Amino acid sequence: MKKITLLKGDGIGPEIIDATVQVLKKLETVFGPSFEFQEALIGAIAIDKTGNPLPDETIEMCKNSDAVLMGAIGDPSYDNRPDIKVRPEQGLLKLRKTLGVFTNIRPMKIYDSLKELSILKADRLKNVDMVIYRELTGGIYFGDKVEGDIEASDLCKYEKYEIERICKQAFHAASKRRKKVTLVDKANVLASSRLWRKVFQNIAKDFPDIEVSYLFVDNAAMQLVLNPGQFDVMVTSNMFGDILSDLGSVIGGSIGILPSASKGNGPGLFEPVHGSYPQAKNKNIANPIGTVLSAKMMLDDLEMNDAAALLQSAVEYVLSNNLVTEDLSKTPESLSTTEVANELCKQIESLKKVHLNYKEVIH
Ligand code: IPM
Ligand code: MN
Repeated sequence: MKKITLLKGDGIGPEIIDATVQVLKKLETVFGPSFEFQEALIGAIAIDKTGNPLPDETIEMCKNSDAVLMGAIGDPSYDNRPDIKVRPEQGLLKLRKTLGVFTNIRPMKIYDSLKELSILKADRLKNVDMVIYRELTGGIYFGDKVEGDIEASDLCKYEKYEIERICKQAFHAASKRRKKVTLVDKANVLASSRLWRKVFQNIAKDFPDIEVSYLFVDNAAMQLVLNPGQFDVMVTSNMFGDILSDLGSVIGGSIGILPSASKGNGPGLFEPVHGSYPQAKNKNIANPIGTVLSAKMMLDDLEMNDAAALLQSAVEYVLSNNLVTEDLSKTPESLSTTEVANELCKQIESLKKVHLNYKEVIH
């Protein structure tokens, strides 16, 4: 049994988590009881209920689980109030830091069935299968801050060990993929980026079969749009990774399908790349696929590989049969969040027969 803490959060968070849990429960009918779910508060809803965007109880529950599955965080009532002291996002940042999930993995792959939705022309979409390794618990997000009315600053500080551990993860990932790692930084301007280069180059020596390349972040943004197929693994600091992953997400057609996994030495944190989409809250129109695919990454992490593979096939089936929400639909009709979950469950049910037959054959 794996203990999963669900953090539904704000906006569309509860709807996409509910849809994903429905799908995970369906997987249990194939693979046997596997999950024990528990819920905890984070974000704006946690501030409303407790005054704290990450209550201690949430921290304890997350630490004592095998994985944490999160919906989304953020509420427009906080966005344009620079003076406010307690913000929903602080809950997420503190959670990442407390769990020590320093590696944020954001895969970007273009599904054939979604190619026509991409803003890029078809010839630019060849070979797009990349992953961003974003450092998640250091850099400018967590450096000392001065917050005055006349002067303000955010320190971007990195220590060698922080760069080393994420770069190692990136090289290991590349050795199982297309064997290329690109370091994205701003080493022509920033001292912290020059330390990244030094440390990265040292680690590269241990991976002689990996091809390395370097890009300044401004150029990387341009290359992502001009020729995204050139990349395999991209490794970068916290803020550059944040920005580039939103850019990359547009290439594939919809930010609504992109998953992420954040890993350290304890339980992993799994969440879609998109935000809380407050305009869609309670409308049952949000795309659940980004969260479902984050759950797929969770299953991989928990070494439930058969379940992960079955879930991936079910997702590919709904995508290629236009059983999707309005952001992806190629026709005027589209499905609701819950209908997509139902379709995924139906597909799991039919794949179940194939899976069980297969098991019988090999045993
Ligand atoms: C993300 C988000 C967060 C980040 C926000 C909500 C703090 O944009 O996960 O990409 O900047 O890391
Ligand atoms: Mn972001």
